[in-house]
Amino acid sequence: MKKIIAIIGARPQFIKHAPIALAMQNDFILKTLHTGQHYDANMSKIFFDELNIKKPDYQLNIGGGTHGQQTGDMLKAIEPILFNESPDAVIVYGDTNSTLAGALAAAKLNIPVIHIEAGLRSFNRKMPEEINRLLTDQISGLLFCPNQTALAQLREEGIKAAAFVTGDIMADLLKLTSSRLPLITSEFVYATIHRPYNTDDPKRLHQILVNLNKLPWKVKFAVHPRTRKIMKEHDIKEHDFNNITFVSPLGYFENIQHLKSAKALITDSGGMQKEAYLLKTPCTTLRSETEWTETLTHGWNQLLFEPIDLLNEKVIAQLNLIAESEPIHNELLYGDGQAALQIKAHISEFLD
Ligand code: UD1
Repeated sequence: MKKIIAIIGARPQFIKHAPIALAMQNDFILKTLHTGQHYDANMSKIFFDELNIKKPDYQLNIGGGTHGQQTGDMLKAIEPILFNESPDAVIVYGDTNSTLAGALAAAKLNIPVIHIEAGLRSFNRKMPEEINRLLTDQISGLLFCPNQTALAQLREEGIKAAAFVTGDIMADLLKLTSSRLPLITSEFVYATIHRPYNTDDPKRLHQILVNLNKLPWKVKFAVHPRTRKIMKEHDIKEHDFNNITFVSPLGYFENIQHLKSAKALITDSGGMQKEAYLLKTPCTTLRSETEWTETLTHGWNQLLFEPIDLLNEKVIAQLNLIAESEPIHNELLYGDGQAALQIKAHISEFLD
């Protein structure tokens, strides 16, 4: 059996790994290396427990620090493990610092890199994730794209390695789980904010909270550790925002249940824009661009960066439009829920 090591480290990667691990368990020796990028129990352990992911074979503890420091420390620690294990390939997911460190460590040892969620671009090189994506795609030997746009982008950039459109693996998991989760009956807007450009400037973060507080529905805000830290450092107090209920980050099932039940989602997450689309929850993305552009086409998702004071108006207008015009919705936009099986078949062929 071929041996593959999957490098994971940040919350969305645990979610992406679950369907891959399930699809590959009987045909490959699949080991995992957790970089430790996310380490709080509600950012890491809960996903392993809920999604039945086996304990990582290697657990590093490289969380926090600057981007260079974090990525460099990971690279240094991953290399000897890959060297000793000598796997047939390494899988990396998405666009985090763990993705880039894993891809770079493998590529420098001439181990084929398999990138799942390849070809996405925000075209904003100020985002660390954009740099991580561009570089990872360049050094991958096998690339899996969630849609045709992503594949076209790889070709546009001159990437000639084997690449396939398989649909999205987060959509696989969502299809398996969402119908089993009961709706929450109270009316609320769900919010998650963690990108540096929304959190690291405390004035901006404060403005976002002021605007969430003005919405005509109660807001449930799941607070990422980065956001929590900045609120604490700058004395931004929860009790100043009486329309907002602040909660810790939710596990996978509870998060999907909130997403599915909410009147609207307000977020800067990548993955949650897709999940909101598939669950038909109107989404406002607090960014000036998105990698998931197809969610914008019929108004299910909208971008808002400046001026943030338009939030109330934009959310209400979006909800009215959706209620009145029943915009086109494509439930197969991110595939038919079989992405992981397709990926497994391509990997088998590639390593044969
Ligand atoms: C990272 C990813 C981002 C992804 C997000 C998902 C990069 C460049 N960014 O951003 O693409 O959307 O994960 O959540 O890789 N922290 C804790 N406990 C934790 C995790 C983080 O306290 O369990 C703290 C860290 O110490 C750090 C801050 O939160 O101070 C940010 O963490 P980091 O992993 O650097 O980036 P994220 O903002 O989580």
